[in-house]
Amino acid sequence: MVVHLIGAGPGDPELITLKAVKALKKAEVVIYDRLANEEILKHSPNAKLIYVGKKAGEHSKSQNEINKILVDEAKKYQEVVRLKGGDPFVFGRGGEEVLALQNEDLEVDMIPGVTSAIGVPTTIGLPVTHRAVATSFTVVTGHEDPTKKEKQVKWDYTADTVVVLMGIGNIKENTMEMMKYRDPKTPVCVIEKGTTPDERIITGTLENISQKDINPPALLVVGNVVDVYQEMKKK
Ligand SMILES: C[S@@+](CC[C@H](N)C(=O)[O-])C[C@H]1O[C@@H](n2cnc3c(N)ncnc32)[C@H](O)[C@@H]1O
Repeated sequence: MVVHLIGAGPGDPELITLKAVKALKKAEVVIYDRLANEEILKHSPNAKLIYVGKKAGEHSKSQNEINKILVDEAKKYQEVVRLKGGDPFVFGRGGEEVLALQNEDLEVDMIPGVTSAIGVPTTIGLPVTHRAVATSFTVVTGHEDPTKKEKQVKWDYTADTVVVLMGIGNIKENTMEMMKYRDPKTPVCVIEKGTTPDERIITGTLENISQKDINPPALLVVGNVVDVYQEMKKK
């Protein structure tokens, strides 16, 4: 028995690894969240499919409920796939799922995915690092667990580029916080539904980006690398 924890990539169904496709092909059961593209499930035509993401009008499953489903299925089947968007360990709670399985002595095979944090900017020609412009980047959540006693996100990052995931609901508060440490004119690029046919790109600055029409899922890239994107786009 093995559970393959697989990153499905950011949306384009071709942005998945060969190793992941191999595991999907032999899967007896696939447990998946809401995926940007369900085409990926076609690699497992004979598998039982279990959806554990949010459904309209229904409450979403808690992490404990998902962990229990994983453990139960892993005890029943030889080849189990747990499929998650992007990379399972980038704001994906993949680590919690691995620990829940390992606590029951169940084997886990971890297969990385193209994270939206880097893959989405790359596909539009926005490098997160660029010689003489940015030598470092940080990936941060723009939506911290509201039940946390103390906030971990302080927004005073020293990295040249900051990529914010899950940051649209709080975009005004987050950009105001960042302006405490960065020039309000710092360029920002928002990519909505990146790598899908519905992709939208919105550019602005820290001081005006929150006034634009943006819908999730989307990520923000903050820093002078956005000027490099503008330059590449012209050619
Ligand atoms: C719960 S996090 C999961 C991230 C995922 N594990 C990864 O590595 O990409 C979901 C957030 O990722 C970002 N995201 C995921 N797919 C995206 C896409 N195709 N375009 C833009 N942002 C995306 C959004 O910020 C979204 O709110």
